[in-house]
Amino acid sequence: MISSLIIYSSTDGHTKTICKRIIDFLKDENVVRLVTLNEAKNLNLSEFNRIIIGASIRYGKHSKELYKFIELNKNILNEKENVFFSVNVVARKPEKNTPDNNPYITKFLKISKWKPKKIAVFAGKIDYPNYKFFDKYIIKLIMFITKGPTDTSKSYEFTDWSKVEGFAKEINQNI
Ligand SMILES: Cc1cc2nc3c(=O)[nH]c(=O)nc-3n(C[C@H](O)[C@H](O)[C@H](O)COP(=O)(O)O)c2cc1C
Repeated sequence: MISSLIIYSSTDGHTKTICKRIIDFLKDENVVRLVTLNEAKNLNLSEFNRIIIGASIRYGKHSKELYKFIELNKNILNEKENVFFSVNVVARKPEKNTPDNNPYITKFLKISKWKPKKIAVFAGKIDYPNYKFFDKYIIKLIMFITKGPTDTSKSYEFTDWSKVEGFAKEINQNI
């Protein structure tokens, strides 16, 4: 049996949805625990063979809590099969959707000084109807500037689910 811990840092839940899709494609011999970053703080990480961390971007940043968690647990993370992925909407653009060309991955690697064994980036979701007034119009402005969708009556899911599935299958091969 392989015990996998999947930790997500999310504001609106899309990163959790991606984690669940990864779980669907992990092999049956995986025992998986899915937790928030906050819940992960109270776990004994050494009990798991594999640790996967997924985190979304908000206003240009991964959460401070994510960096704190990695700083505190870097040594134990490095002893494990470890994986990191970021979720952001810049990654909807083909020229920004790989670990090598996505600016948030570059920034994450620089700030965290952690080198995950496997890295991915997935395009997220714009969920205008569920955003608060301020967020809705800031995101609309950013979308306008970056030639994205601006109809605030709709949600837009940019996630390439076949890429998520492929990533989960790659994870399977590593243990
Ligand atoms: C208030 C807000 C700010 C965001 N800022 C950025 C950003 O700076 N860059 C980016 O690529 N995506 C940005 N996004 C898009 C999110 O990364 C995307 O919606 C993602 O799916 C959110 O994942 P979550 O639901 O797990 O939090 C932002 C979204 C919101 C709602």
